[in-house]
Amino acid sequence: MKNIVVLVSGGGTNLQALIDAQNRGDIKNGKISCVISSNPNAYALTRAKNHNIETEVIRRKDFEKFDDYDDALVKLLKSKSADVVVLAGFMTILGKKVISTFENKIINIHPSLIPSFCGEGFYGLRVHEAALEKGVKVTGATAHFVNEICDGGPIIIQQSVEVKNGDTPEILQKRVMEQAEWKILPKAVSLFCEDKIIVNNNKTEILE
Ligand code: GAR
Repeated sequence: MKNIVVLVSGGGTNLQALIDAQNRGDIKNGKISCVISSNPNAYALTRAKNHNIETEVIRRKDFEKFDDYDDALVKLLKSKSADVVVLAGFMTILGKKVISTFENKIINIHPSLIPSFCGEGFYGLRVHEAALEKGVKVTGATAHFVNEICDGGPIIIQQSVEVKNGDTPEILQKRVMEQAEWKILPKAVSLFCEDKIIVNNNKTEILE
């Protein structure tokens, strides 16, 4: 059974999707062992506590140097025996040490079809604002491994979502969450826990 540690910063609807999937038995060979937040007031922490999942808080601003924050996060993740780290709306940049220590073991959910609308500055509602600004007819979400390039790691699963007339960023964000993020993130985590993801040359092969 792999230990899944989920990193959050906000509302935690993706965390909720993981918890619901776990309760349905849809996460094979894995268990959410801890939820770590960058924000002590994140509602995601309440969701974790409601399900008796251990919680921790680590704030970037409590460390003067970025490297010290990076070291502290590695230490915290190791102390929780994390086998896989899931970024579920985690809004703090990860350091080199965390990324190299957990190479191809950190899964992020991004609310667009990478490589569109991703990279520095593309997070949360901004992603949907950019998609509407461009006028794309199809958007979606991507579950991918994290490497040192922002949103540039190996893609695990993508799910497309239709853009409709009259969409606002908020309406589109909700549709992308419901139709894509909340489905593909638990699926990607389960595939990882079942050792069904092979990474080669920055690409993945899924063993189904
Ligand atoms: C989600 O839409 C997630 O894809 C996005 O933030 C939201 C968090 O919502 N993440 C990013 O933009 C990362 N670049 P949640 O806290 O309700 O899961």
